[in-house]
Amino acid sequence: MFNFEGGRSEFLENEPFEYSPSPEVINEEEDNLGEMIRLEKNEVKEKFADMIDYVGRRYESPDSTLSQSEEQLKAFKEHNEQILDKCIEQGIKRGLNEDELAKLEVSAILHDLSKGDTPPKWAAGIGNFTLVYHGESAAEEIGSNEKLQQLLKDELGEDDLEDKVAHIQRAIRSHMGPHPGFMSDVLGMVNEELKEKGLDQIEHSRPKEGDQVAEVLLAADMYSLASSKGIRKVMAIRSAVPFFKQQDKDLSTEYAELGIELNPGEAAILSAFDSAYAARDMIQNNDDKEWIQSTIDKSVESKYRYNPLDDGDRRISGHVPEGCDRRQTGIMVSIEEAQQKRKQFEDAKKSREALEKIQEIV
Ligand SMILES: [Fe+2]
Ligand SMILES: [Fe+2]
Repeated sequence: MFNFEGGRSEFLENEPFEYSPSPEVINEEEDNLGEMIRLEKNEVKEKFADMIDYVGRRYESPDSTLSQSEEQLKAFKEHNEQILDKCIEQGIKRGLNEDELAKLEVSAILHDLSKGDTPPKWAAGIGNFTLVYHGESAAEEIGSNEKLQQLLKDELGEDDLEDKVAHIQRAIRSHMGPHPGFMSDVLGMVNEELKEKGLDQIEHSRPKEGDQVAEVLLAADMYSLASSKGIRKVMAIRSAVPFFKQQDKDLSTEYAELGIELNPGEAAILSAFDSAYAARDMIQNNDDKEWIQSTIDKSVESKYRYNPLDDGDRRISGHVPEGCDRRQTGIMVSIEEAQQKRKQFEDAKKSREALEKIQEIV
């Protein structure tokens, strides 16, 4: 809280003076912070307009895997906007200086730069390669791409540019660190394939202690994953990428074997929320953890649509709930219902296992 280090009362000579601000002072300080955040959010879009545009055009290019699905494209752009906003909020609340804040903003804009890229030739054919390598490839590109280097020079200035770029690269690499939900399995599978090809394994680093730029970027990314926008983004990915679509279908089949009707959309929403809880649990800073919990609480209240691509890459039309826009397709899914079904499934599994044990004994 407001601990004035130098403040001393003559009666408490060696004790730090605890400053307890009145509600009016707290309100005024919050208003000031709110105003600073609002101004910075407005300015950043102009200050880094070319860089934001660079990332947007990369996502839209015909080579990008994101350009094949409107939902994915929209979700990724929204994700980047949200990360930038949240980094500004948290960065200002943590009291970052102007230079640190600028590095944080650039890290936020570029952190998922290569997430829609097709894998390089040497990794061709490795499933989910981009997903586990995008932090590394973005960091490498920042250090080597001339256009980006020019943008960084124009927008960050020439003073200490090398150090600034190195810091941004570290922050971007370490946003891959924690592994919400399925990511550990995916990294394991990619590394298996790299091993077979005789190539180096991929490692994901965490932010170094005290590196506020890297810490805030990671917390904002985890916040975003846990927010309703993040849940929608995960569902958009799971409805478009064959590997995840199959996983969700397989889970539905497993449930059906025990007489529980779980559709692939409900499987997708369960996975999205599992990632949100995992994202919260792997953050070490308690304030950040609470911050992420607050967005999960809101995410639970939201409605979600699952709209998978069929094999011909068209959206599958499905049940359109009453009152919904008829042009929209897909099904609405609720996390509460999906969680109830998971509970039923786990109970049914336990009963079946118990029955099998009894049959073995008999
Ligand atoms: Fe990322
Ligand atoms: Fe991200």
